[in-house]
Amino acid sequence: MKTQIAIIGGGPSGLLLSQLLDLNGIDNILLEKHSREYVLGRIRAGVLEHGFAALMREAQCGERMDKEGEIHDGFEIAHDGIRDRVDLEGLTGGNTVVVYGQTELTRDLYEAREKAGGAVIHNVEDVQLFEITSDNPYVTYRDGDEIIRIDCDYIIGADGFHGVSRKSIPKDKIKEFERVYPFGWLGVLSRTKPVSPELIYAKSDRGFALCSMRSQVLSRYYIQVSLDDKVEDWSDDAFWAELKNRLPADVASQLITGPSIEKSIAPLRSFVAEPMRYGNMFLAGDAAHIVPPTGARGLNSAASDIYYLYHALLDHYKKGDDTGLEQYSQKALARVWKGQRFSWWMTNLLHKFPANSDFDNHLQQTDLEYLFSSESAMKSLAENYVGLPF
Ligand code: APR
Ligand code: PHB
Repeated sequence: MKTQIAIIGGGPSGLLLSQLLDLNGIDNILLEKHSREYVLGRIRAGVLEHGFAALMREAQCGERMDKEGEIHDGFEIAHDGIRDRVDLEGLTGGNTVVVYGQTELTRDLYEAREKAGGAVIHNVEDVQLFEITSDNPYVTYRDGDEIIRIDCDYIIGADGFHGVSRKSIPKDKIKEFERVYPFGWLGVLSRTKPVSPELIYAKSDRGFALCSMRSQVLSRYYIQVSLDDKVEDWSDDAFWAELKNRLPADVASQLITGPSIEKSIAPLRSFVAEPMRYGNMFLAGDAAHIVPPTGARGLNSAASDIYYLYHALLDHYKKGDDTGLEQYSQKALARVWKGQRFSWWMTNLLHKFPANSDFDNHLQQTDLEYLFSSESAMKSLAENYVGLPF
């Protein structure tokens, strides 16, 4: 097979780029390791920056998001038994976020690709990349006993942290930066009314908690847990009791509990691979960077990668201008690192660090007090949360 762009990975990054390119007449084939059902079974992020929402609309995939997603113009930080509100709209001169599950967004993208007759190939096995630094790169994958070859102009590695793309770059050509946090997040999805109309990030002596949602009938809650914890260690009752212990009394008393329809523990890490280009392969999304979920940056960092790649490829094919491709890695990393900083900062602000000294803990408390005492500090938090410009 031959195509202009071979995209590896059918998560939000790969699908969004595939749709945007296709709408602009740029031929692409997307290879996904798993079935659509498997991909859609993952429970992931839920907060979209206005820039991501705009990109979904540009991809003609924003209709359900605009209909069913919720515009949030603020969120709360609970600490020391009280709740302080972060007025995103007021602090950023009108910017907000959209609360809409990544699962739904990915479903919308799959449906759009199907409607467009897009080449999305599922259950591909053993994807391999060849001639990456030549002008004739190609990828192969196994379909049963058959090896299929796809010749292309460019390869997009949108295959996530555990994908094959980043690992196809020689070790001496890539530098990886990483911080692993000494705790994880235990997340629960329940068909219950959210405890509050806005998200509540809670800092408590017992550890971090987050009250989020997917809709007014589907709640998403998290508590910080030790890396030694296993999901089977946590019954639903134990989860709800611990969550209540970490929330202000007035919130805990309003909490509607119910059976978990999904329950899982995710580790927290910060990770960046540089550069995000090797020869004629470009990395995008989780394939190149991972953030702790505290700042809701994961999916949104992928959005700017896709935005830059989309415009760079358009310029290449429509204008013969390769400036965007040449500048992609540098430009994408500049924004990726700002997302890393914000996610790292918010994680340090709100979590209990077992190894912290009394001095560290005093600094952490002071950081929080400074935040709510300073309009400038609040504006900085808000402009990062709604999304820095692409
Ligand atoms: N071959 C083909 N597909 C692969 C391979 C491979 N070797 N390895 C992984 N994949 C697929 C995975 O099955 C997954 O569907 O690539 C896709 C990568 O999707 P994501 O991991 O969701 O990454 P991305 O699309 O960049 O989206 C980032 O997802 O993990 C969350 O928090 C993250 O919200 C962020 C978003
Ligand atoms: C979620 O709803 O899953 C969510 C929301 C905000 C975050 C992290 C996760 O910061």
